[in-house]
Amino acid sequence: MTLSSYLQGNNQSKDFIDMIQVIVDQIKPIKTEFLGGDKKAGTYNLYGEEQIKLDKRANEILLTAFKSSGLVKQAGSEEEADVIHMESTRGHFGVTIDPLDGSSLIPTNLAVGIIVSIYENGEIMSGLSNIKSAFYILLGPLTLMVFADQSGVSQFVLNDEGVFDLVKEDMKLSEDGKLYSPGGLYTKWTEKHKQLIKSYEEAGLKLRYSGSFVPDFHQILTYGGIFSYPALIEKPEGKLRVLFEVGPMSFIAEAAGGAASDGVKRTLEIVPNKVDHRTPVYIGSKNLVSEAIEKLK
Ligand code: AHG
Ligand code: MN
Ligand code: MN
Repeated sequence: MTLSSYLQGNNQSKDFIDMIQVIVDQIKPIKTEFLGGDKKAGTYNLYGEEQIKLDKRANEILLTAFKSSGLVKQAGSEEEADVIHMESTRGHFGVTIDPLDGSSLIPTNLAVGIIVSIYENGEIMSGLSNIKSAFYILLGPLTLMVFADQSGVSQFVLNDEGVFDLVKEDMKLSEDGKLYSPGGLYTKWTEKHKQLIKSYEEAGLKLRYSGSFVPDFHQILTYGGIFSYPALIEKPEGKLRVLFEVGPMSFIAEAAGGAASDGVKRTLEIVPNKVDHRTPVYIGSKNLVSEAIEKLK
């Protein structure tokens, strides 16, 4: 089954399906940019990180497509300081993008991704509880999409004709998982977080961490386990961005029967107070996220 028939079966509107297709159509141009390598653009995003050219190009490609589609009312991007208001003639979606997640892995040819969430109320600052669907595109040996909406979580693979075919339906985060993916420098972790990670090693969980959230989370979704990017000493808000990374991934995790917490509450309860709002995150199998919350108390 193709992605668009799948979305029709989930009662998604024509506007919605067209909007997803607008994003899918940008995968090829974005990947073509990878051939140019990892040249530095010499500019910085609002987080003070040097934008390699590819971050900026992927951002431009997606935002240009959104503008000409007439389907997007508000867009937010990890590479933009403000919410972008667009003229929409139909659909009127709010869309957030991390146009290139894991960009530091491009020079080493490891997997990277694109992360998207969709607000059908058109208002991307209205709170993560208003996310109605979210997906990521994993650019690895295969180009995959993991898509979540009210009907659950499914995985698609891009075929030779450039069409996503359904390969897994009703994905669930296993509670027997044996992987942990720990972000942040050990020396900057809190004592409680250090103890938590130590307990994973003692329990026989295996460490899997690449430095790109999309493939790291995808391993957790596939095999079960927990990804964390904690509060750091001197940086209690952690690193990952609520609108572009934590929100969409939390929606996917919960739709797969898993959980996502900032260590105290569900991350999907967060209402961002600025575009670059960040949060610590513990995300993955429900049992492991509950255990993390207990141990962090
Ligand atoms: P981005 O490439 O979009 O800036 O995201 C990088 C993020 C995320 O993908 C990953 O989980 C995390 O940063 C890795 O951070 P560390 O390098 O601190 O491990
Ligand atoms: Mn990212
Ligand atoms: Mn990014």
